[in-house]
Amino acid sequence: MKRKLFINGSWVGAEHYAPLSSPYNKKVIAEIPIASEADVEKAIEAAHNAFLKMAKMPKHERGHILEKLVMLLDKRKEEAAEIIAKEAAKPIKTALEEVQRTIQTYKFSAEEAKRIHGEALSLDAAPGGENRTAYTVREPIGVIGAITPFNFPMNLVAHKVGPAIASGNTIVLKPASQTPLSAFFIAELLQEAGLPDGALNVVTGSGSIVGKKIVEDERVKMITFTGSPEVGKEIRNKGGLKRVTLELGSNSALIVDEGIDVKSIIPRCVKGAFSNQGQVCISLQRIYVHEHVYDEFVNAFVKETENLTTGDPLDFQTDVSALISEHDVIRVISWIEEAKKTGAIVATGGNAKGNIVEPTVLLNTKPDMKVSCQEIFGPVVLIEKVSSIEQAVEYVNDSRYGLQAGIYTKNIHHALYAAEELKVGGVMINDIPTFRVDHMPYGGVKESGMGREGIKYAIEEMTELKLVVINRQV
Ligand code: SIN
Repeated sequence: MKRKLFINGSWVGAEHYAPLSSPYNKKVIAEIPIASEADVEKAIEAAHNAFLKMAKMPKHERGHILEKLVMLLDKRKEEAAEIIAKEAAKPIKTALEEVQRTIQTYKFSAEEAKRIHGEALSLDAAPGGENRTAYTVREPIGVIGAITPFNFPMNLVAHKVGPAIASGNTIVLKPASQTPLSAFFIAELLQEAGLPDGALNVVTGSGSIVGKKIVEDERVKMITFTGSPEVGKEIRNKGGLKRVTLELGSNSALIVDEGIDVKSIIPRCVKGAFSNQGQVCISLQRIYVHEHVYDEFVNAFVKETENLTTGDPLDFQTDVSALISEHDVIRVISWIEEAKKTGAIVATGGNAKGNIVEPTVLLNTKPDMKVSCQEIFGPVVLIEKVSSIEQAVEYVNDSRYGLQAGIYTKNIHHALYAAEELKVGGVMINDIPTFRVDHMPYGGVKESGMGREGIKYAIEEMTELKLVVINRQV
């Protein structure tokens, strides 16, 4: 089906189209418009013109639009999951989980819309501040450029669109080229929910035209981006004085301490490594296990991995389906081959069938192998032995990334040591690094990015703090 761009509340055609194919079976799913620079100009102009209306809209009205969206999405959640499964090859049961989370994200956005406030200040705490009353307010900043990835095509759009609407901003959204249908679906629902024309615009096409225009246009006041560090750095370099929130991925790690009942944590660890084929920024990629439980952990992990079902994303039995592109299959397999050549052992997996890479467990890896030091974004996990908590923390921190890390331990001192020493945005004690619910602060340090998502925190990034001081003596 030929799709259209969503600009100023209207569905408009483009001059050029590109076929969108299923990553699983290569069948064409839709024809996607390729926006020209003139199309993006119209989208930015529409968002710019709609800003005053959104900024002045009472908070309860913004909340109401988002509540209505929640209701509409809840009614059509199976359809939404099928869209995700088709365009992203996300297994349907995982896609349904994503839709449930998307509903939560918009629910939190509706609630947070009513909780945006400042604080009263005691100016007389400083000499010269007597007889003055002061307070702060949070004001929306304007047009927000949102550039979203393929791996959570509905919920990561929600993490940008939800808080932007809640805080009275307007949006120009460029969804990932492989997953525009989820974004179009949400645009349709938001229009039905009563969002004013121009408040959300969805433009699809290339990074070099659509992305570049959004990043460089002066009317766009902030860029919120999820993707690779390379593109994140380019956005910072080209965005001038724009505010930026960057969520740039990781090679997330887990520590398993001695004394842990290994069997009880295996299903959770396997899910963390292979959910959505490992294409998750906080996917479990590196596991450091205490030598006392290492063999037991590896055996149980491999056994559980071999029980996973690979196949069609629309089949409810499927745990692991296709990677997003053939290019990524070739890349992941070549990283595994490179690791094998330099001493890694494949405990299970290691091959591809079509675009499906088998869930793969590697042992005996070295920190400078790509499978260890780069973000693999595929169904590959390595398990290494450590002799102390200090050594494990050192290995986890030996990374250009720092998004989230996990530690399973029964020792409170080890838990607190890890919480203090791990150089990441979030430490999960007795859970995998892949844990996320949608209102918690989410973001990283080092090359994992800057700024935080999680509705309340995203709203802070998307608003300007204004100070008001009243001199009571005039
Ligand atoms: C991500 O891949 O950055 C998002 C992970 C999540 O929301 O669970």
